[in-house]
Amino acid sequence: MTPNVLKIARLPDMLNERLFAEHAVLEGNEQGSELGAHAAGIRALVANGESKVSRELLGRLPNLEIIVVFGVGYDGVDVAAARERGIAVTHTPDVLTDDVADFAMALLFGIARRTGPADRFVREGKWSEGPIAFTRKVSGARLGIVGLGRIGQAIARRAAGFDMQIAYYGRRQQPVDYRYYDSVKDLAANVDFLVIAVGGGAGTFHLIDAGVLQALGQDGYLVNVGRGSVVDEAALAQALADKRIAGAALDVFEDEPRPHPQLLGLDNVLLTPHMASATWATRKAMSDLTLANLAAHFAGSPLPTPIPA
Ligand code: DGY
Repeated sequence: MTPNVLKIARLPDMLNERLFAEHAVLEGNEQGSELGAHAAGIRALVANGESKVSRELLGRLPNLEIIVVFGVGYDGVDVAAARERGIAVTHTPDVLTDDVADFAMALLFGIARRTGPADRFVREGKWSEGPIAFTRKVSGARLGIVGLGRIGQAIARRAAGFDMQIAYYGRRQQPVDYRYYDSVKDLAANVDFLVIAVGGGAGTFHLIDAGVLQALGQDGYLVNVGRGSVVDEAALAQALADKRIAGAALDVFEDEPRPHPQLLGLDNVLLTPHMASATWATRKAMSDLTLANLAAHFAGSPLPTPIPA
């Protein structure tokens, strides 16, 4: 069968199997270098939340109708270029909100209560030499959320269960009881934990810079489950090395899968491989939604989850 779907990203097996069973798929890449004679036949492109779908790639696909993103974030997609050509873009919101919020709390607790070093302490036999150092209390602490969207709100609901005092920064104030800051630096200066829950793109690039980290201060912790590009990672690594902030827990990085090398040698940082939404249940729901968007497009039906207008 002549392929009409181009896949440019690594996808879970459960999605791959169904994608290849239900569609005529060409396995390609972000450069479009595998397209050959198939370029004109491609009507749909399947990417993931980290994929780069550039204007150049779109230019190589003259009959592309839809970009289907397996993930909530689509900052790697040149949406302006897609819109100019009337190419639809879909993503997988909502189904992963709980997992990402759960994982933000896991990271927050992990860095504050030092569960990673504690595990190593036991395994390395250090327990018999004496007790482990005390850690940072979480319940009742001040939490700042950068971006009170679906995921930020879910984090706030969880944090409320730990009696945390919640504040947030966003483009605009929302009708919620949490304290609002219109400056991320002011938010950082007034919290113990700063959690990033915004997406990437030009609007949030390096929103967390050296000045914000300075404001967070030597007792403050940073948690990032949004996008790596939101944080100036070199500035963060230096702030951690100099102990100008207490710690950081990062699931996302500027250049995945390569965290800033300085981070790898630091003890006051917890690093995870962009896995906040990676549970069986959620990846199944994301897979279902990805296929539903693709099927709806080919059937001429309304798309279940197009990106916001
Ligand atoms: C998302 O869905 O955007 C997650 O970050 C995984 O890519």
